[in-house]
Amino acid sequence: MTALLDVIATTARFIEDKFANEGSGHDWAHIRRVWLMARRLAAAHPEADALVTELAALLHDIADWKFHGGDYEAGPRAARAWLHSQQVADEVIARVETVIREVSFKGSGVATPVSSIEAALVQDADRLDAIGAIGIARAFAYGGHAGRSLHDPAIAPVVHDSFASYQKNTAPTLNHFYEKLFHLQDRLNTDGARAVARGRHAFMEAYVARFLAEWDGED
Ligand code: ADP
Ligand code: NI
Repeated sequence: MTALLDVIATTARFIEDKFANEGSGHDWAHIRRVWLMARRLAAAHPEADALVTELAALLHDIADWKFHGGDYEAGPRAARAWLHSQQVADEVIARVETVIREVSFKGSGVATPVSSIEAALVQDADRLDAIGAIGIARAFAYGGHAGRSLHDPAIAPVVHDSFASYQKNTAPTLNHFYEKLFHLQDRLNTDGARAVARGRHAFMEAYVARFLAEWDGED
């Protein structure tokens, strides 16, 4: 037991150090929130393996394909190397790798099924961090990082029905709400996450309504 708790604490420190100076939206603060939320959601799911859930939450963004030339296996591979160095059992490593493969959102029209309760919890926790007050801040931070404008009424939001189309998207940040953020409450796996999403979704809707009113000088 001690050894298992140790590997979670050691992994948290490893990821905190690795992401200390990360400004792309995959910072330690994001990962920490996903870890805490996955643990909170897991309280209603005693069938979930705590070690797999926590390690996957901590390692889910270890090597994002967006920053590794589109290599989707970079994340699972980096997680495996780390967990192997920590003498984690192969069976646990394989389950963590599968969670990492399944977590990511790939476009509003693209299904992202999960094959385990642990993946369901981490995917929900990651999606909850993309909505609400934090989600709004992360979207504009990402948009600024990528050199996007805030909004352009001439550019209509689109439904991305393939991962490739979603990846190529360079639309202004407000479009991201219609292309991803407003869809997330319907793309959750657990009742606990849906309950948390309700307030966050309503807050984003009010925010965007006000944004558009202010855009036209109406409020
Ligand atoms: P996740 O960590 O949820 O898999 P991503 O890696 O896709 O999410 O994105 C990290 C953060 O940046 C999220 O908050 C996401 O909503 C935001 N983001 C991703 N793509 C865009 C975009 N085109 N415009 C604005 N924000 C974005
Ligand atoms: Ni994430």
